[in-house]
This record gives sequence, C-alpha cells and structure tokens, in this order.
Amino acid sequence: MSNVTVVGLQWGDEGKGKIVDLLSEQADIVVRFQGGNNAGHTLVVNDITYKLSLLPSGIVRKGKLSVIGNGVVIDPWSLVDEIERIGKLGVSITPQNLIIADNACLILPLHRDLDALREENAGPKARIGTLKRGIGPAYEDKVGRRAIRACDLGEKTTLQNKVERLLIHHNSLRKGLGAKEIDTQELLESLYKIASKILPYVKPAWKYLYNAKGQNKKILFEGAQGAMLDIEHGTYPYVTSSNTYAGQAAVGSGIGVGSIGYILGLTKAYTTRVGGGPFPTEQSNSVGKLLQEKGNEFGTVSGRSRRCGWLDACMLRQTVIKEGVQGIALTKIDVLDSLKEIKICVGYKLDGKKIDYYPSSQIAQAKVEPIYETMAGWQTKTQGLRDFDALPKAAIRYIKRIEELLGVPVVIISTSPEREDTIVIKNPYATDNTENLSAHSALLGRTLADASR
Ligand code: GDP
Ligand code: IMO
Ligand code: MG
Repeated sequence: MSNVTVVGLQWGDEGKGKIVDLLSEQADIVVRFQGGNNAGHTLVVNDITYKLSLLPSGIVRKGKLSVIGNGVVIDPWSLVDEIERIGKLGVSITPQNLIIADNACLILPLHRDLDALREENAGPKARIGTLKRGIGPAYEDKVGRRAIRACDLGEKTTLQNKVERLLIHHNSLRKGLGAKEIDTQELLESLYKIASKILPYVKPAWKYLYNAKGQNKKILFEGAQGAMLDIEHGTYPYVTSSNTYAGQAAVGSGIGVGSIGYILGLTKAYTTRVGGGPFPTEQSNSVGKLLQEKGNEFGTVSGRSRRCGWLDACMLRQTVIKEGVQGIALTKIDVLDSLKEIKICVGYKLDGKKIDYYPSSQIAQAKVEPIYETMAGWQTKTQGLRDFDALPKAAIRYIKRIEELLGVPVVIISTSPEREDTIVIKNPYATDNTENLSAHSALLGRTLADASR
C-alpha cells in the first residue's frame, strides 16, 4: 500500500500532527485536503515544538513535498505569517517543498469579521464556539459560487469582477449586522499585495499527485478536525464547515477515490471537545479535571480549555463503520496512568430504552445517557514507552477491549507528545488495503448486547 489517510475520529485534537509527522518519514508527499487554519497540529521533535495550522505536518522533514489541496480554505495572510513563524524554527519553506492548489478558495478578512459577528450576536445556546477564523463564511462563499480562488490572484480582471460581486453580498450582510462596509479598491489593493507572496506556490496540485502516483511515490493525506465535527456526519450544527471524513481526501486533493490508501483513524484513549455542542461522556468533575491537566488539554489555536470525558466506543464504532476506518492509532494512553478505574461508553439509553448508535436528532444527541463498562486502571507509568510488551497488563486489556468494541485493530499507540514515544504494532504503509473489510461487515451485524458483553 503506497498511500495512507490519517483522520481524527472524535472532535479533533486526537494527535494527528504527531502521527502524521511520524508516518511522514515513509512518505514522499503530505497533503492537507480540508479545513483551514482552524486546525492546530502540534509536533514535538527533539524538544522543539512546532504548532502548525495550515501547513501540512510533513513540512518539518527535509525532502518532502507538502501540498495544500483544493478542499482547504486558505487565509493567505495567515499562511504567510505561518511560513515565517515556522521558518524561524529552522524549517525552510519554498515553492520547491510547498504547493498550493490553484483551485483552492481563499479566506478573506471579511470572512473572519462575519464569523466573529455571528458568534457575538448569537445567544449562548446558539453559539457554535468557532475559532472565528472565517472558516464557515469562506465555505459558504465557495458553495455560493462567489469565492475568490488562489488562481484568481494572478488575474487582475477576474479578481476585480469577483471582488465586486462578492461585496454586493457581503456589504448587505454587514449593513444588516451594523458593521462598516468594505471598499472594493481597498480590498483589491490588499489582495494585489499578498498575491506576490502566494502566487509562487500556486500550481495545479492534482498534476503533481498524478505524476507522483506514476512514479510509485507514497502520499500521506492529513485530515484536520475530526469525524464528529464533519459537516454531515458530526454533531450538526455544532460542527465545522467541511467534510472531515477520509473520503474527502480524494475530492479535496484531486486524486481518484481508489488512491487514498489505508485509512488510519485516530482516537485519544479518552475524549475531548472544544466549543459548544453535545458530549455524552463529558466529565464535569474531578476526572475531567485530571484528564485536562494531565493531557494538557488546552486548544493549540485558541488556548481555550478542552472539555474532557471518557472514551465513547459507541460513537467511535459508528464512525469506524461509516468512514471505512481500517486501523486505529490510539493516542495519549499515558494520560490515564494514574486512574484506578477507567470507563468506556458502549451504548446509550434514550428515553429509558437502550440504543446501540448515536442518533442524528439534536434533542436526542443532547439527551442520550451513556452506558458504561468499567475497567481496572494500571496505575503505573506508560508515558514514554516504545515497546508493546512493556505495557502493563491492564493497559493491554483496555486496548484489546477497544479493538473488540470497534471491530478494527489498534495499530499504533502513542505514549507522549514526542515523535519517538510511539509503539507501532503494524505499519500502515505495510498493510494490505483489503484487510479488515470482513471485520466491518461482522461489526454491522453486532448488537449492543454483543458489544457490551
Ligand atoms: P491534532 O489537532 O489532532 O494534531 O492534535 P493537537 O496537536 O491539537 O493536540 C494533541 C496534543 O496532545 C498536542 O499537544 C500533542 O503534543 C499531544 N500529544 C500527542 N500524542 C500524545 C500522547 O500520546 N501523549 C501525550 N501526553 N500527549 C500527546
Ligand atoms: P484540529 O485539526 C478541535 C471546532 C471549534 C468549534 C467548531 C467550529 O486541531 O483537530 P470552526 O472555526 O471550524 O468554524 O469551528 O469546530 N474546531 C476544532 N476543534 N480541533 C480542531 O482542529 C478544530 N477545528 C474546529 O472549536 O467548536
Ligand atoms: Mg488540534
């Protein structure tokens, strides 16, 4: 298998940056295919911490090509800042190692404004808790067919026509929200200015991927956010505005659906969420506090504290099935080291009835009560372990139970933020892509009673 797609299975921050960085050693190209600078991916390599937002996590390794695919929304000003910030840490970023898809849509300052205005004007219950980076409004303009694309930066007439059209829409919205109208010429001038810094990277990215395929090069697709933030499959409307599912790797980069390779799903050994929305296994108590402190659960981008709770195997099982996940990377197991007991959610109760899936209705999503299974903790250090056999027995039992409940193998275990503190049970690049499909179909036939045995 020459390609691997890494996706988050929860509400983001599962450790995608660390795992993509680890796997990128084996890849030639790393591709981001959705989201924007709402992502915050942390890599720790030899005591240097890299916090990436839009740049693919392969950028820190020499000799790799990084691609920002067409499915991503790009804030050019923020990207230029990030290139400079990461450059200061000794990473050279040039058009030789970074490509921006020419058909990717841009985030403009007016999108950031609108994102913030909407959040500020929403009541506490309606507030999504976005990062106010303009992600939602930029995707709205993309679907509304009025977005400015990266390639437009090189065509003054196109840019002028598109900005005029865009401002008819945005200025009427701004008027309604009491914000100052945008001047066409001012916006155009700022776009002309940033264009010279962005255009050297802007290329038909799909062609590079196609050529790479022909040369049997290995591609690593890096997801942002997580499955439960997916615009369709997540906890709508408390979601982000893109498809975070692995299938988007094909559409969001311009490669055939057969080429996204092995789908590696990431989950923490517990659950976190930033921003509003339902979270059935949330622990607003001493357990939640311990997870937050030990796990250093503060947003990479916003610094907001992340809500914490137990692992939700029922929700994960549903995602594994729907998304076609073939193997699991289990991260942050070390955060559970001091716990006497660990709970896993194996199903829910809704209006007194047991159900074995997470419903779509907003009311039901907020109302379900988790059914827990309790396991013994290991109360010894797993932090920094690099060998499966060194894991305490109780930790192995926990991992095996997760495999049973999800119906797919745990192939990677992460035991600290450091790149090398990782146990690779099965290398995703050395896996036959047809594996686990039978596991999926077996899983579909399982009932809650089977799962909670
Ligand atoms: P991403 O958005 O999925 O890339 O994840 P983030 O980088 O936002 O959040 C994950 C955080 O956990 C980062 O601070 C990582 O350095 C850290 N991390 C990743 N894996 C592990 C692990 O196995 N153990 C611990 N303790 N921290 C980890
Ligand atoms: P990574 O890639 C965690 C959340 C926000 C908010 C919702 C919508 O680091 O895992 P948006 O700004 O996207 O319109 O906000 O989605 N969110 C994330 N939460 N990790 C992320 O990315 C996130 N990106 C967006 O907190 O609830
Ligand atoms: Mg993150």
